[in-house]
Amino acid sequence: MSPSPFVAWTSLLALWPLAQATFTITDPSDVINPADWAADNAILADYNVTPILYQTDTIVGPYTYNGQAANISHATLTVSKNDTSVLVVSNGSDVSVEYSTIVKYGYSSNLFQASFYGLNAAVNVANGSTLSLSNVNITTHHGAANLYTYGSGSTTYVDNAWLYSSGPTSHGLYAGGNGTVHAQNVVHYSGGNRCSSFSGDNPAGYIHVQNAVAHTDGVGSAICYALGLCNMTNVIGHASHAPVTFSDGVQTTIWTNSDLTAGLLGGVVLFSSATIESGASVTFDNSKLTVLGKTMPGLWFGNIIANANIISSQINNTASGILAVANYSQVTQDFDYYAGYVDNNDLSPAEATINVQESTLSGLLVAYNGSSINFNLTQYSTWKGSTQSGFGAAYFGVSLDATSNWTLTANTTTLQNFTDADSTLSNIASNGFYIRYNSTSSANKQWAGKTISLQGGGSFIPI
Ligand SMILES: *[C@@H]1O[C@H](CO)[C@@H](O)[C@H](O)[C@H]1NC(C)=O
Ligand SMILES: *[C@@H]1O[C@H](CO)[C@@H](O)[C@H](O)[C@H]1NC(C)=O
Ligand SMILES: *[C@@H]1O[C@H](CO)[C@@H](O)[C@H](O)[C@H]1NC(C)=O
Ligand SMILES: *[C@@H]1O[C@H](CO)[C@@H](O)[C@H](O)[C@H]1NC(C)=O
Ligand SMILES: *[C@@H]1O[C@H](CO)[C@@H](O)[C@H](O)[C@H]1NC(C)=O
Ligand SMILES: *[C@@H]1O[C@H](CO)[C@@H](O)[C@H](O)[C@H]1NC(C)=O
Ligand SMILES: *[C@@H]1O[C@H](CO)[C@@H](O)[C@H](O)[C@H]1NC(C)=O
Ligand SMILES: *[C@@H]1O[C@H](CO)[C@@H](O)[C@H](O)[C@H]1NC(C)=O
Ligand SMILES: *[C@@H]1O[C@H](CO)[C@@H](O)[C@H](O)[C@H]1NC(C)=O
Ligand SMILES: *[C@@H]1O[C@H](CO)[C@@H](O)[C@H](O)[C@H]1NC(C)=O
Ligand SMILES: *[C@@H]1O[C@H](CO)[C@@H](O)[C@H](O)[C@H]1NC(C)=O
Ligand SMILES: *[C@@H]1O[C@H](CO)[C@@H](O)[C@H](O)[C@H]1NC(C)=O
Repeated sequence: MSPSPFVAWTSLLALWPLAQATFTITDPSDVINPADWAADNAILADYNVTPILYQTDTIVGPYTYNGQAANISHATLTVSKNDTSVLVVSNGSDVSVEYSTIVKYGYSSNLFQASFYGLNAAVNVANGSTLSLSNVNITTHHGAANLYTYGSGSTTYVDNAWLYSSGPTSHGLYAGGNGTVHAQNVVHYSGGNRCSSFSGDNPAGYIHVQNAVAHTDGVGSAICYALGLCNMTNVIGHASHAPVTFSDGVQTTIWTNSDLTAGLLGGVVLFSSATIESGASVTFDNSKLTVLGKTMPGLWFGNIIANANIISSQINNTASGILAVANYSQVTQDFDYYAGYVDNNDLSPAEATINVQESTLSGLLVAYNGSSINFNLTQYSTWKGSTQSGFGAAYFGVSLDATSNWTLTANTTTLQNFTDADSTLSNIASNGFYIRYNSTSSANKQWAGKTISLQGGGSFIPI
């Protein structure tokens, strides 16, 4: 079977004289056929183990540096052993690796040790160490991260890396315990479940990536899983069975000049797996997000108070027509459905604020069960859509500055907070639909219960 390259669009295409042209982007799955590793990729991550929140195993590997400096060049480093790394850079070491190949076989026996300390990662950088990788090929099988960077003061620099993995929980560039990764010129493919191209972990990992092609095929495998910071610039990413962003708790995700496609749940999924928290954010700056599923919103928020900033960006949600969802829900360790009260009885309604600048968006805003969406259009932004309750009470604020406009595609729900810099509402095209507003809400008192006719036959009416 031939590998399946994914097709990406770039904004450059708009300038291309042949409007029908598409580029085929290649990624590491064109070199190592995922079908050859189908059994590996079918292994499900075992998260049903007792969480042990301290390190139980020493990180070991055939190439271990303990408080040492070294340069490695033109080498092939391998290991074939469970719970064992290839290269370990620890306790204040300073190591550089260039023009080298690292190949790792061997299974991981404990998801928590792998996630929080990088047990079984091909490359493990820890305890105030520095590693520089340039022109490296890191390939893992059986479920192992390509790179793990652990601890405050540990930093890995990556330039020109080719990363491939098969098996569960084998993230590409992964950092936890406050570790940091600065990477550029990276290509990544993972075929297993819970294998994000880039990922942070407990309590935080700081991942900066510039110029990357990232392709994941597994469920729960995002392009960047935010626990800490995902700072992503010039990334072409295709997550076949995941959102491009998972963000659990108060985390920050920035997509700049990126072109991203998501195949499951939503374009981005911001949630809290514990009780609701406030302060998560995701930014799309000069980027494009495409969602492929018929029920997938561009932006999804559950059990979180969060901001999305959409700046000069596009969201292609033609498959679903849903722009954003705020829900009384979250995502479980299965990463393939939206959970309800039976999965987590600590749930609260989501509160999403979406700030839009210099962007043209379309689609429904949908809130469930007491959740709210504040939609703020500024700086020459356009929205074609409406608001809808998915279930129960749904609170919406819509705000337009003088340069922005709104075309209705349905009657709205009763808006809790409507503001428009144009008090005649001439920047709204109604298509015969009605905007309903809550005249007893203090945020609407400027409208004083008035009815205002809209262009196109509809009206702005008090309820
Ligand atoms: C780092 O130092 C600690 C404490 O001395 C030790 O237990 C650990 O084995 C060292 N790590 C490596 C990779 O040598
Ligand atoms: C590694 O290479 C750098 C740059 O060539 C050099 O400055 C450094 O001394 C080398 N380190 C070791 C341990 O050989
Ligand atoms: C390595 O892990 C695999 C999968 O759990 C297991 O089948 C195998 O026996 C382990 N190998 C050793 C040497 O323990
Ligand atoms: C990277 O290494 C793997 C394992 O040796 C190999 O199969 C693959 O072809 C290499 N990738 C490139 C681009 O050479
Ligand atoms: C991570 O940072 C927190 C807050 O500064 C600190 O308490 C914790 O010890 C750090 N963890 C590691 C592994 O460095
Ligand atoms: C994100 O990375 C860019 C370089 O690619 C850097 O200039 C910027 O400061 C980073 N942002 C954050 C929040 O760290
Ligand atoms: C939007 O995404 C769909 C796939 O859902 C694709 O067929 C269509 O070409 C995309 N539109 C644009 C303008 O990129
Ligand atoms: C709306 O967006 C503008 C411009 O980004 C910002 O200044 C303002 O604070 C936002 N309003 C709300 C209520 O978030
Ligand atoms: C939209 O609301 C108006 C005013 O309440 C109502 O007359 C009309 O039937 C509604 N249209 C639809 C499609 O529900
Ligand atoms: C909304 O703004 C866009 C872009 O500035 C413009 O093309 C469109 O005609 C405007 N629509 C309305 C209803 O004002
Ligand atoms: C209208 O706003 C008032 C005051 O905030 C609130 O009590 C009421 O539930 C709202 N009505 C609707 C339909 O949302
Ligand atoms: C209503 O929305 C405006 C603009 O988005 C904001 O400044 C204001 O704080 C909101 N009012 C309430 C009561 O939420």
